[in-house]
Amino acid sequence: MTKRFYLTTAIDYVNGEPHLGHAYEKIVADVIARVHRSFGENVFFLTGLDEHGQKVQQAALDSGKKPQPYCDELAATWKAFAKRLNLSNDDFVRTSEPRHRAVVQAILSKLHAAGHFYKAQYRGFYSLKEETFLTEKDRRPDRTFDPGYGEVVELVEDNYYFKLKAHQPWLIQYLGANPDFVQPAQRRNEVLGFLNSNELDDLCITRPLARLNWGIPLPFDEHFVTYVWFDALVHYRSVPAAHGDPAVLAARKSEIRHRKDALELWPADIHVIGKDILKFHAVYWPIMLKAMELPLPKQILVHGWWRKDGQKMSKSTGNIVNPISIIDEWGVDAFRYYVVRELDIGPDGNWTDAGFQARYSAELANGLGNLVNRSLSMLKRYRNGVVPPSSDELAPEINRAAGHVRDRLRENKLQEALMSIFFSIVDRANQYVDQTAPFKLARDPANAARLDQVLYNLTETCRILAVLLWPFIPATAEKIFAQLGLGGRPDQMSYADWGGLNAGHSIAEPVALFPRKDQPKN
Ligand code: MSP
Repeated sequence: MTKRFYLTTAIDYVNGEPHLGHAYEKIVADVIARVHRSFGENVFFLTGLDEHGQKVQQAALDSGKKPQPYCDELAATWKAFAKRLNLSNDDFVRTSEPRHRAVVQAILSKLHAAGHFYKAQYRGFYSLKEETFLTEKDRRPDRTFDPGYGEVVELVEDNYYFKLKAHQPWLIQYLGANPDFVQPAQRRNEVLGFLNSNELDDLCITRPLARLNWGIPLPFDEHFVTYVWFDALVHYRSVPAAHGDPAVLAARKSEIRHRKDALELWPADIHVIGKDILKFHAVYWPIMLKAMELPLPKQILVHGWWRKDGQKMSKSTGNIVNPISIIDEWGVDAFRYYVVRELDIGPDGNWTDAGFQARYSAELANGLGNLVNRSLSMLKRYRNGVVPPSSDELAPEINRAAGHVRDRLRENKLQEALMSIFFSIVDRANQYVDQTAPFKLARDPANAARLDQVLYNLTETCRILAVLLWPFIPATAEKIFAQLGLGGRPDQMSYADWGGLNAGHSIAEPVALFPRKDQPKN
C-alpha cells in the first residue's frame, strides 16, 4: 500500500444553490487532481457538504422542512452539480453521515479525556446571521455593529472551549519553518501577521442544545452540540478513517483494524480553500491536529474571491453568476477553461459576461477549436485522413513548451500553464498554418513531401495539446483524441512527447469543438 496524493476542497454549506465561487474552487481542485493523476500518481480527491449549524437549521426552517430531509434534497442537487462540472472526486462527504459523526465524537471524547477542553461561561453580543460572538473590536465608532452582522443580541451561556491559545508560539514557529504550508506567500504573511499581532482566544467548540440542535451531540455532555469548525474541519480526517487509513486510526489507538481495502491518505497533501476561511485552516486546524497527535497537512492553497461586474455577488441583489446556465449555453469546458484562465490562484477575480464571451470566441473557438478543426480537416481532405511519415519541424518548440507547462503544473501555477499552452502551442501552430499555407501547397503535387511534413506537424501538435489540456478541459481533450482516431484517453503526461502519431494511422471525423456563437449576448 502506498500513500495517495490526498487533495481536498472546502465543504460547502447546504443553505442554497451552488454559485460561481463554489464552482471555481472545485474546478481548481479537480484540475490539480487530474494533473497529479496525469503524472502517474495515485490521487484521492475529496469534496462534499457541510450540513450542520445555525445557517442550515435556519434555511431548513424557512423552507418548512426538517434539517435532515432538507439536506438530503439539496445534497442531491450539489452532487449533480459536481457531476456537471465533470469533477473527478473519489468521495463526496456529507457531515450528517454516521461515518463522520462517529469520528467527530471519538475525537471529542479523546481530547476531553486528555484535558484539551474546559467549560466556561460567556457573556457577549452575538450575531445571529454570522453565528458568532462579536467583540469590542467589531463595533463601529458610533458603538453600533455593522448591519452586515444582522440582528445582534446579548447572550450569556455556558460552553466548552478548546485550549487554543497555549499553542500560539508553536504555530508561529511552525509557519516560519515551513514556508510552503500556506500558499500563495501573501496568504502565509497574512496568517503570520495576524498571529504576531494578536493573542489567540480559546476556541468555543459547542452550542447549547437549546439554541442549536442541528449538530453532532457532544459525547460527554448531552446539553450541547458540536459547533461547526470542530465538526466541519474534522471531515478531512473522518473520511480517511472511514477508508481505514492506518495513520488516522493509529492516532485513535482504540480501534486499529487492518483492512485489505484500506487507503493510506493522511496527511493531506493540499487543502484547497477560499481566503475567507484561511484562519480556520491555518490556525485552528493545525492546533487541533497537534492535539490529536496527527501530522499536519502539507499545504493549504488559498484562492481569492470572484466578484461579478466589480460587485460582491449576492443573491439578494441578483448579482450572481449561475454556473449551470453558463454550462447549459456554452458547455462545461468553456466554463472550466475561463475560470482557471481568468483567475490565478490567490488574487480576487471579476466575472463579466463580455469577458467570458471574448475568451470563448478568441481563445476557444478561433484559437484551439479552429486549429484542431482545420488541421484535421486538411488531413482528411488532402491525405484521406491518413497520417503521413513523421516530421519534427515543430518538435523542439513544442517539447520546450510542454516541458514548461509541466513545470508550472507541478507548482500549481494553473493559469500560467494554460497561458503557455495557448501562447506557445495553439498560437504557434495557428501561425505555422499561416506561414506554411498548406491549402496552397495542396494545389501542386510537386509540394507533396512538404505538405506531408506540415500535416504531420499539425496533427501531432493537436495530439500533444489534448494531453496537456486534459486536466483543464477533459471532455474536449477526449474529443480531440477521438477525432484523431486514438483509443484510450489523453490522461497521462508521458503521452505528451513528440512523435506519438504513427505514419499510416487513420484519423476519425473532425467535428467543431467550440461552435462559434454569432450573436454575442450582452
Ligand atoms: N462550510 C464552510 C467550509 C468548511 S471547510 C472545512 C464554508 N462553506 S461556504 O459554502 O461558505 O464556502 C465554501 C467555499 O467556497 C469556501 O472555500 C469559500 O471561500 C468559497 N467561496 C464562496 N464564495 C466565493 C466567491 N465568491 N469566490 C470564490 N470562492 C468563494 O465556508
